Amino acid sequence: MRILGIESSCDETALALVMRAGDRLLVESSTVLSQVKIHAAYGGVVPEVAARKHMEALFPMLEHTLPRGGAGIDAIAVTAGPGLAPALRTGVEVAKTLAWLWHKSLIPVNHLEGHIYASWLPEGTPPTQPLTGALPTFPALCLLVSGGHTELIFMKDHGVYERLGETLDDAAGEAFDKTAKMLGLPYPGGPQIAARAETGNKDAFDFPRGLLDRPDLNFSFSGLKTSVLYMLRKHDADLEESAFIADVAASVQEAIVDVLVKKTVRAAKRVAPKSVILAGGVSANKALRKRLAEAMHAAGIPLYVPPFAYSVDNAAMIAAAGAFRFDDATDHADPLTLAADPNLEIIGRPSPTPPS
Ligand code: KG4
Ligand code: ZN
Repeated sequence: MRILGIESSCDETALALVMRAGDRLLVESSTVLSQVKIHAAYGGVVPEVAARKHMEALFPMLEHTLPRGGAGIDAIAVTAGPGLAPALRTGVEVAKTLAWLWHKSLIPVNHLEGHIYASWLPEGTPPTQPLTGALPTFPALCLLVSGGHTELIFMKDHGVYERLGETLDDAAGEAFDKTAKMLGLPYPGGPQIAARAETGNKDAFDFPRGLLDRPDLNFSFSGLKTSVLYMLRKHDADLEESAFIADVAASVQEAIVDVLVKKTVRAAKRVAPKSVILAGGVSANKALRKRLAEAMHAAGIPLYVPPFAYSVDNAAMIAAAGAFRFDDATDHADPLTLAADPNLEIIGRPSPTPPS
C-alpha cells in the first residue's frame, strides 16, 4: 500500500509518500520545509505564525508530491497531536479535505508514535529501496526524546504502549534549547550545543543529574537549567570566550546524555526488552547515540536509531506509523469529524475522533 504523510505539529511543514509491503517500508519522497529561521527571531516557535506558514506551504508542496486527484495512494496519515493547536489544525484540515474529496482512508497519527516508527525507515535519499536490515522486535523499550517530550515507553506490539517514565518538568530537547539560549546561541539550541561540545571538556563543570538517585524512571531537567544559570552569573565575562562556551556545552550535553542513558539501562533491566528504540529530535545527538549504543552493546540488546534525516520532524515517520495502522479499520477516522488534539497521549490507541 502507498500512503501520504502530512506533518504540521510545530515549525516544520512536511509531506512524504511511503510504500509498505508486509512490515518493510520504502520512502518514495519526503519533503520538509523548516520555519526555523522565521521563529529564531522570536527565540522560539510562535504558534499562529507557524500555522500561517504551514498554510502557505502545504498546497505548493502537495502539487509537487502528488498527482492531482491523489491517484495511486491508498491512505492519508496526518499528525493529529500532540503539538501546537493552530499548527496541527492546518495539516489535519488539509488531510480531511483531501481524504473526503478523493475517497481515501484517513489515519490520525500520534506525533510521538511517528518518531518511534522512524526506526522502520530506510537510510538514503528518496526514492529509496525497502529497508533490508533487521527491524525492531517486540517487546521494545523506546527512549523518546524530543523538544516537548522525554519518555520511556514500553512498546509491546505495533500500536500498544505503556509509559514507564516521563519528565516531571522540561523535556531533554528543551534543556538543550534553554541552556543554549543562556549561552547566547540561536534557536534551536540542541544542534548548537552539540557542535560546541565537540571541542569542549565534558568534565569542566559538574552539572546535576536530575532524579538519578531515585529508583523510578522519571526525568527532571529543571535543576540543570538553574545550575547553568547560576554558574553563568559568576562567569559573565567568560561568555565572550569560545573555549568557555565549548566547555559549558560539553558539560551540559554530558549531564543530559548521562541521565538518559542510565535511566534507559535501568528500564531495560526492569522490563527485559528484545530491542531498544531511540526516537525524537534529540536522537540526532551523536554523543547520545554513541553512549546508548555502548550501553546496549554491554547489555546485549539490539539498539535501533532512526536515519539522521528522520530523527527530527518529518512526514515519512508519520506515513510509516499510519501504514502500520492501515489494516485496522478502527484506526481510520471520519474526514468530517476528525479534530486535532494538542494533548494527544500515546498510551492506548489514539481515538479516531479525538475530542476538540
Ligand atoms: O522531535 P523534534 O524535531 O520536535 C519535537 O517534536 O519537539 O525535536 C526537536 C528538539 C529540539 O529541542 C532540538 O534542539 C533537539 O530536538 N535536537 C537536538 C539535536 N538536534 C535536534 N538536541 C541535541 N542534539 C542534536 N543534535
Ligand atoms: Zn517531533
